[in-house]
Amino acid sequence: MTSYDPSEMRPEWLISSGVYVVTLQAEDRVNGYSAGWVTRISEVPVIVQVAVWERNYSYELAQDAQHFAVHILEDGQQGMARHFGQTSGRAMDKLSSYETRPGGSGTPILLDCLAHLECAIIFRRIFGDHTILVGEVIQSEIHRNGIPLIHNYADYHTPCQQMRSE
Ligand SMILES: Cc1cc2nc3c(=O)[nH]c(=O)nc-3n(C[C@H](O)[C@H](O)[C@H](O)COP(=O)(O)O)c2cc1C
Repeated sequence: MTSYDPSEMRPEWLISSGVYVVTLQAEDRVNGYSAGWVTRISEVPVIVQVAVWERNYSYELAQDAQHFAVHILEDGQQGMARHFGQTSGRAMDKLSSYETRPGGSGTPILLDCLAHLECAIIFRRIFGDHTILVGEVIQSEIHRNGIPLIHNYADYHTPCQQMRSE
């Protein structure tokens, strides 16, 4: 199996997605990471899926967490996405830079976003180098109107990084 270099542009990075911040709580540990791999699975009840990379601090929390919360970012919040997506909770308390309140499960809810979905985990499984968490929404809220942030590779990587096909 070839090793994965996240700084190298790859075809699968062109699968379109939004940009989200997922927060997790496992006992006394809390964290948030930026996520592009967020999928709706069911409408009634609302069920969503996230995928957590094994190199992330969040992966450790994802093994024990009972809940997670998905925050939908607004176009223009690329800085917030970089904050949660290019630093690790191993090195700093990322959540302390943003206003939060505890959700019904105690999971931190970020207030500066378009909307959030707080979920109870109903399925957890490792696929390859990611753990999949499937969660049924227990609380959700629209915080403000706006256009959701869409993932653009160039927002998170410098242009000098080479395309693999070049
Ligand atoms: C736009 C964007 C989308 C990302 N999507 C995911 C994702 O879906 N799953 C994941 O595990 N990491 C994803 N990442 C990477 C993590 O956010 C990143 O590795 C982060 O530093 C992990 O933080 P942690 O170590 O505190 O968990 C994404 C990063 C960015 C910038």
